[in-house]
Amino acid sequence: MQARGRYCAEKEEAMNILVTGGAGFIGSHTVVELLQAGHTVAVLDNLCNSSEESLRRAEAITGKKVNFYKGDILDRGMLEDIFSAKEKVDAVIHFAGLKAVGESVQKPWEYYENNIAGTLTLIDVMRKHNVKNIIFSSSATVYGDPAVIPITEQCPKGQCTNPYGWTKSMLEQILSDVQHADPQWNVILLRYFNPIGAHKSGTMGENPNGVPNNLMPYITQVAVGKLPQLSVFGNDYDTPDGTGVRDYIHVVDLAVGHVKALKKVQEKAGLKIYNLGTGVGYSVLDIVKNFEEATGVKIPYVIKERRAGDIAACYADASLAKEELGWEAQYGIKEMCEDSWRWQKNNPNGYEA
Ligand code: NAD
Ligand code: UFG
Repeated sequence: MQARGRYCAEKEEAMNILVTGGAGFIGSHTVVELLQAGHTVAVLDNLCNSSEESLRRAEAITGKKVNFYKGDILDRGMLEDIFSAKEKVDAVIHFAGLKAVGESVQKPWEYYENNIAGTLTLIDVMRKHNVKNIIFSSSATVYGDPAVIPITEQCPKGQCTNPYGWTKSMLEQILSDVQHADPQWNVILLRYFNPIGAHKSGTMGENPNGVPNNLMPYITQVAVGKLPQLSVFGNDYDTPDGTGVRDYIHVVDLAVGHVKALKKVQEKAGLKIYNLGTGVGYSVLDIVKNFEEATGVKIPYVIKERRAGDIAACYADASLAKEELGWEAQYGIKEMCEDSWRWQKNNPNGYEA
């Protein structure tokens, strides 16, 4: 394992970054890495799926200050105030968005309004203030059921199976069109695979509302005794053990990927797209086994029907990010399991504890 300081060794220009959705899971971990790399950070978040406590913990880890604005990316007045009076912004890292796949099927209007209208408002205010640098949280979901795995950035985008996925796909298109029309824009689209894990300190991690939809938070809640058992959604996929295969990536590696992506903004690289994954696929049962080995806690499970909209296998070819950003995931599955568990065990009720 490389020391995290390795990432700070290269001299990169310090920037003033506005992080939308910075109190959330990936955003808060990115705030830590940005501060540690010497950047100045302001966060705009409406806290609809997060707690300001995550930012206090980021400040405690780094010993540095974050300017926090509680507000909505749909609130043009607030954005105007931040860009014209409150902050000097060099680049925006845009995490703010709703992300629950199942909920997006029930509430498509709310998802399109929040994610798409919100981003349109944000980029309109940005261009008015001549801030034309944005790093956007996209997702492997834009590939749909991938034609070829491992998935390269050249793989064609596919049919999404839910409105959430379509917001990511459409926002990629919108941001690309904006950049084509005005080449002063630098737009970096980062397609995340499956982020899990937590900060090594055990003080920051994922804090899902209600019963988790995603595999790792579900497993950690079984481990801590909040849920009785894991349901494994299908064991008849065309994969080595029949359960779904994904590319799990440590959230701190993902966070570091954003700091590395700023290099492309500084180089005025225009439009760039990168997969952020490890390149390794693990099945659901692999994750259960690895979690049990890493933590010594047994995870009871039952096999259930396939979950609607799931695909068999999805993992990245992440070589472009290595080549162009000098970024590569450092943490393996053991650390992802250990760190997820440390966070859950120390904070059984998340930030509310
Ligand atoms: P999260 O819910 O923890 O973080 C999103 C943050 O955005 C939350 O703090 C929320 O309060 C805030 N937010 C939502 N709507 C807002 C609005 N209108 N104005 C201001 N703030 C708003 O989710 P996360 O896992 O940290 O995901 C961050 C981004 O990465 C999201 O855009 C998500 O879609 C994307 N992404 C996540 C995953 C994943 O598996 N976690 C995978 C691929 C992409
Ligand atoms: N799974 C279970 N039981 C559970 C939860 C999940 O068996 O209780 C299985 C799923 O069927 C799948 C795998 O575990 O095979 C991973 O499922 P997740 O819900 O953790 O993740 P997904 O791959 O479905 O989707 C996640 C995010 C999406 C994002 C995508 C790619 O939820 O928003 O990763 O980045 F688009």
